[in-house]
Amino acid sequence: MSFDLDRYLADRRRAVDEALERYLPAKDAPPATVHEAMRYSVFAGGKRLRPILVIAGAEAVGGTMERVLPTACAFELIHTYSLIHDDLPAMDDDDYRRGRLTNHKVFGEAIAILAGDALLTLAFALLAEHASLEVMKEVSRAAGTFGMIGGQVADIQSEGKSVDAETLEYIHRHKTAALIRCALRSGALLAGAAPSALRAISEAGSHLGLAFQIVDDILDVEGSLEALGKTAGSDRRKKKVTYPDHFGLEASRLKAKSLIEDAKAALAPLGPRAEPIWALADFIFQRKS
Ligand code: IPE
Ligand code: IPE
Ligand code: MG
Ligand code: MG
Ligand code: MG
Repeated sequence: MSFDLDRYLADRRRAVDEALERYLPAKDAPPATVHEAMRYSVFAGGKRLRPILVIAGAEAVGGTMERVLPTACAFELIHTYSLIHDDLPAMDDDDYRRGRLTNHKVFGEAIAILAGDALLTLAFALLAEHASLEVMKEVSRAAGTFGMIGGQVADIQSEGKSVDAETLEYIHRHKTAALIRCALRSGALLAGAAPSALRAISEAGSHLGLAFQIVDDILDVEGSLEALGKTAGSDRRKKKVTYPDHFGLEASRLKAKSLIEDAKAALAPLGPRAEPIWALADFIFQRKS
């Protein structure tokens, strides 16, 4: 029987959502406004790709979902914080996210900023309690100025400019691929991966992360608000540097496809236990939202 990705995703999303429900403060716990704002964005939907990659990274080396679930949730909290801040008027100035109004449109900019800060802080509290020092260090780096923040800074500073392919790749590798790679690695590390397995997983993660952002750029051109849950055409409006803008749609699709194949090749030594990551690779390429 072939691997049932839909079922795999549904089961893990349910586990992640139940755990997030436990870890987030109740919405009426004071200060209620910020707790409500945190929950508003976390529970607005979302593919839960990063937490599922943490779980799949653990499973690929013989670990269990139970061991890594809090760490998986920490990744979703960091990711959701990054989305809230990414949508602010000072950044991408977007009105819709995950099929609803963006956080600042509902709660105001001050609370949206604080809700993002609070999600990031809560993520590190979860890691401190349930992960390892090594994983905490890796997540700090992947989310910080040498990772996601670094990419976001370059993304903002490149608006309206024509940049070379190297800068474009820097932006995408940092703003998006760093956290995706780190999600897979963290799961594998917590499951006690051998060095060779960790190398294979890291390589796959960096290919998948770059492919993910190239596809995000393509969907911004080809998708719709209904399908994406966020406004299409946002990149053109903000004069962002993107793969379709730089290389064209078809070349961008080919580039993403070849990264997916590279990721699968990197996973080969792990054997059948890496089947979920393999299937997630196809999902990253084929997704419509
Ligand atoms: C959107 O990420 C932001 C990027 C890094 C491209 P996702 O497409 O994973 O967003 P959700 O979590 O499903 O809403
Ligand atoms: C976002 O990139 C990367 C983040 C770290 C949030 P985008 O700005 O392209 O993400 P979307 O398209 O708004 O989801
Ligand atoms: Mg952005
Ligand atoms: Mg954006
Ligand atoms: Mg985008």
